[in-house]
Amino acid sequence: MRRKLVVGNWKMNGNLAQNQRLLEALVHGLKGVGHVDIAVCVPYPYLFQAQHILTGTNIAWGAQNVASHENGAYTGEVSAAMLKEFGASYVIVGHSERSDAYCESSANIADKFAIAKQHGITPIFCVGETLQERESGVMEYAIANQLDAILSVSGGALLDRAVIAYEPVWAIGTNKNATSEQARAAHSFIRERIAAMHPGAAESARIIYGGSVNPRNAAQLLSMSDIDGGLIGRCSLDANDFERICRAACKI
Ligand code: PGA
Repeated sequence: MRRKLVVGNWKMNGNLAQNQRLLEALVHGLKGVGHVDIAVCVPYPYLFQAQHILTGTNIAWGAQNVASHENGAYTGEVSAAMLKEFGASYVIVGHSERSDAYCESSANIADKFAIAKQHGITPIFCVGETLQERESGVMEYAIANQLDAILSVSGGALLDRAVIAYEPVWAIGTNKNATSEQARAAHSFIRERIAAMHPGAAESARIIYGGSVNPRNAAQLLSMSDIDGGLIGRCSLDANDFERICRAACKI
C-alpha cells in the first residue's frame, strides 16, 4: 500500500512574514496528522526559514527546481548539494511553468531528476498534456514521450521511491481540475508505462495529481485508485485549505 503524499507548490509567492504565519499555522493544524506524507516546496531564499520552522515536525520541505550540474560556472543556478544543506527532501522537476517558459529539454529534466536522486532528494517529476494534445487525441503519446525521456536516462534503480506528478497543463491554476475519472485513467496509463519499462518500480512509484486541487474536490480525487496524493499550487498558500486537503488524503 503506497502512502499518500500531499505537496504544496508555493511557486513564486510569499515573504518572510507571510511564510512564518503560514508555516506556523500548518505546524499547528497538521500536528499529529498521520498516514500521509506532507511537504511544501518553497522558493530558494525561504529554504532556511522552512528548515528552521519545520525541523522536528511532520512536514517536510523542498524546492521547485535544481541545477542539472554538480557545481561550477552556472550563474543563477542552485545545486542539489545546496538544497541538501538546507534539509530539502523533495524537489519539483519539469513543472510545465518552467519547461515552457525556460525551454527546459527532456534531457535537461532527466539530468535534474538523476542528480536529485544522487543527493538523496526525492524528485517530483511533472508530466501532463496540453489542452490541444488532449483534444486532438494524442494525450497518451505526449505523456509517454515525457516519461520515456526520464526512464531511458534514469533506469529502473533511480525510479525507486520516485514521485511522478500528473499535471494536465490545462488544469493548472485554472479552477478546472481534471475529473477524478480523467485523472485515474492518466495515472493508470503512467503506471503501466513504468511497468512496461521497469516492472519493479511501478508498484512503489507514487503518482500524484496536480491541477486546481481544492478542499472541495480533494477527497474525490485522492480516493481514486492509482492517485497517490496531490501537488497543490494556489490552495497551498492558504493554511486552512492546505490543511483540509491533507486531512482529506489521510482519511482515505
Ligand atoms: P494549482 O497549481 O493547484 O494552482 O492548479 C498546481 C501546480 O502547478 O503544481
